[in-house]
Amino acid sequence: MKILGINETTHDASISLIEDGNILFAGHSERFSKEKNDWFTNDELIDYALQYGKPDKIAYYESRWLKKSRILIRGGFGGGKPFYLSRKDLNWIPRESFSHHYSHAAAGYYTSKFDNAVIVVLDAIGEYNTSTMWSGEGSSISMIYKKNYPFSFGLFYSAFTQLVGLKPNEEEYIFMGMAAYGDWTRYYLKIKEYFPSIDKQKYNFHRGIIDWNEPIDDQAKFDIAAAVQKVYEDRLVNFMALAKQLTGKRKLVFMGGCALNCAANTMLWRMFDDVWIMPNPGDAGSSLGAAAAAYGQHINWEHPYLGYDLGGKYPVEEIVDEILKNKIVAVATGKAEYGPRALGNRSILADPRDPNIKDEVNKIKKRELFRPFAPVVMEECASSWFNMNFKSPYMQYAVKCLKPELIPSVVHKDGTSRVQTVNRNEHRGLWRVLNKFYQETGVPVLLNTSLNVKGQPLLNDENDILLWEKTYNKKIVRGTNG
Ligand SMILES: [Fe+2]
Repeated sequence: MKILGINETTHDASISLIEDGNILFAGHSERFSKEKNDWFTNDELIDYALQYGKPDKIAYYESRWLKKSRILIRGGFGGGKPFYLSRKDLNWIPRESFSHHYSHAAAGYYTSKFDNAVIVVLDAIGEYNTSTMWSGEGSSISMIYKKNYPFSFGLFYSAFTQLVGLKPNEEEYIFMGMAAYGDWTRYYLKIKEYFPSIDKQKYNFHRGIIDWNEPIDDQAKFDIAAAVQKVYEDRLVNFMALAKQLTGKRKLVFMGGCALNCAANTMLWRMFDDVWIMPNPGDAGSSLGAAAAAYGQHINWEHPYLGYDLGGKYPVEEIVDEILKNKIVAVATGKAEYGPRALGNRSILADPRDPNIKDEVNKIKKRELFRPFAPVVMEECASSWFNMNFKSPYMQYAVKCLKPELIPSVVHKDGTSRVQTVNRNEHRGLWRVLNKFYQETGVPVLLNTSLNVKGQPLLNDENDILLWEKTYNKKIVRGTNG
């Protein structure tokens, strides 16, 4: 049976198609409409997914009516009519919908290898739920704890993101990156008053921070970011400790937009024996969550390369030659990543040994110069280059770099790196690139960043490649045939 999972009407719409537990397709709307964080699905995306067959069932990721009632009664964002309802060819297909947080929980638990785990979902807002805990046992997922809007980890973080002039619900990752440049002690006590415990917040952060009474110069922005990150981490640890205490479980599945905070995620490995964060833990991952929820059991998760297919074999030789010659290479090949990070198929790769490479890549991408870049490393070498005893195949954890002087362009101001580890069986082509670079240079690490222009979605198809090449007057290395 084929199930089409859909999420739309909040930031980052997506659809997923599964058949008997196998994922046929999963992709983001923005990559097809070219509109960053597109709220709605579109014909191009739906038509592309339907190439894999017509669904027998449609699974929607939240209760539209419950959300509507919350917006009417208590405010907050979200809403509008889902685009897919306008598609006549989907009209007669049976539909089922699941609650927003249940879809998050299902996306996490059913893609994990666990059959007994506590599932924690933290985001800005679903229908009413904002912070939930679930018990996953066998194929069943049951809620054990919830907090509702306006209490919200996500809204707390987003409100301060907005306070320093960034875009809430979109640029939290920039705010997180700024934390490393700030002194957290300057505003810690003040910001702690906004979120003193996991039972209490100062007010509804949906309205933003409305009572900040000090001027905010550039340094203050960084200091605020550092203090907000610290308060968020403290409350996250409190919440996770409660999850452990209530369930006695030692394995954690963490989902919701808050699970994108890679600096905080690292602490979870000190609290649990094993941790799974699906590589698309925000709302965009919930189309797969809804489909898995309709399937009602674990699905077959192998890798996140599930989107638009450019075809071709991974161009290992061309990539390494180009890096050794020119230090930077743009790559677009195979299926697009499902999730916010480029993990090798729509990536810019560069030589991390050159300290000037960071500025050069930042210039290409038109990003702020303080923004860090992430390393990609062969899994078998990860623990000798970074302080980590776990895998990080989806760039979800920031850890201390052990040899910063050798790879200066992938180390953040605070000495950490947001690592992607590559297993030779999970992405053979990228692993071979790293191995070849290792043989040539003694360094099994490359810089990896997304192939896009700032503010634009990740490159998706052939047209995007042509546009990028024309804009930058640079060639993108594509997959080889045969
Ligand atoms: Fe969510």
